[in-house]
Amino acid sequence: MTRQDPHRHYLSPWAKQDRAPAGPSFDRGEGAHLVGDDGARVFDFSSGWIAATLGHSNGDMADAVAEQMRRLCFAPPSFPHALRSELARRLSDLSPWSEGARVHFTTGGGEANDDAVKAARLLTGRTKVMAAYRSYHGTTGTAAGLTGDMRRWASEPTTFPAVRFFAPYPYRSPFHTDDPAVETARAMDHLSRIVIQEGAHNIAALVIEPMVGSSGVIVYPEGYLDALRRFTERHRILLIFDEVMTGFGRTGAAFAAERFGVAPDMITFAKGVNGAAVPLGGVMIRESVAKGFDDRVFDIGHTNAGHPVAMASGLAALDLYERGDLFARAREIEGLMAERLDALRQKHPLIGDVRGVGAFWGIELVGDRASRAPLIEWYAADPSLNHSLVDEMLRRGLWVYARYGILMLAPPLVATDDDLNDAFDRLDGALGWLADTLEDPK
Ligand SMILES: Cc1ncc(COP(=O)(O)O)c(C=O)c1O
Repeated sequence: MTRQDPHRHYLSPWAKQDRAPAGPSFDRGEGAHLVGDDGARVFDFSSGWIAATLGHSNGDMADAVAEQMRRLCFAPPSFPHALRSELARRLSDLSPWSEGARVHFTTGGGEANDDAVKAARLLTGRTKVMAAYRSYHGTTGTAAGLTGDMRRWASEPTTFPAVRFFAPYPYRSPFHTDDPAVETARAMDHLSRIVIQEGAHNIAALVIEPMVGSSGVIVYPEGYLDALRRFTERHRILLIFDEVMTGFGRTGAAFAAERFGVAPDMITFAKGVNGAAVPLGGVMIRESVAKGFDDRVFDIGHTNAGHPVAMASGLAALDLYERGDLFARAREIEGLMAERLDALRQKHPLIGDVRGVGAFWGIELVGDRASRAPLIEWYAADPSLNHSLVDEMLRRGLWVYARYGILMLAPPLVATDDDLNDAFDRLDGALGWLADTLEDPK
């Protein structure tokens, strides 16, 4: 297939370039919807890449950004700047730590993970870092080494290879059980064995998504994160939650740390911090850990870290979350999504598993419910079925981010119940289309 003219000179991520991009070229946003330059309206059921948590093209956000661009566009990160101090303070207030936090800003999630690891190594004097196989932490230098899924392969050998472990996956247990408590116990036993071989005194940090995002939308069994917390504390390993996807209301609380009741030592964030309005990310370090930098050089910096325009967008975003009570809204969305997804599961044998919390859910498609055989192999050499389904959903007015046969449903928190119910009706139709197509491939 030849490439369409508008994309002739643009390299599209994670894709063979000769595949014509599906759907319209998006021209503008209207809240939870995207509008193509042909006028087609598409409901953004995945907030882009689980990022546009506030929806699209918010006027208050645009005003805050424009105002800051006129006032002062750039101030190096070493200059004092009121918005930077204010955003750091508000993030500290939002953090799960009563002691507060200090914030280092970046321009995205991968960079935030790179810097969190560097900070952990500086603070502990240890060198190794642990990360799970089913994970995505970015493709910048260190983050690529942390990433467990196939998106790491192109970066190998990575400059910073993590010590890797299997974390629980209740639907496809790597620990051969259907019992969540056994899964957790065996996962912890597996982890301890690895740590013995690596030497706990060599391990600076353990990095984990508190709920797995694009590597499968996996909610860990109750008790697992808590067990990790106790384990890392015992070995004086810093626990880092990568909340690039789960932060800012996605799980029905400011952070998944709060939702799951486990406080790590650092949290990395991006995406939802400003609904991806402009590039912004960062690392929050709890006060008792961050004070280690009072008499030690914080040897990390980027020209665009704490960029005034990004700071203005972050503050505007926090106002929008607060004014709309959007973290609580995510809890309401949870109820609606759980109910509609349950009905879809009962209707469509193609759905093997449904899982999630807040406004972040995954549908895992299977070829056979009894054996749980995946409909699309995890590392499918041929992703065409995934592509056809995504294309069909776009034709039906839905953007759904899908990987390896797992559909990620994470609507903007400004979506109304009507928007969501309409989106579920369309999704129902698309799954019916998929079943018909598989039965009678043309
Ligand atoms: C959990 C998680 N961490 C890190 C990243 C990388 O963030 P970025 O793409 O901003 O570098 C992502 C991106 O999707 C992510 O989902």
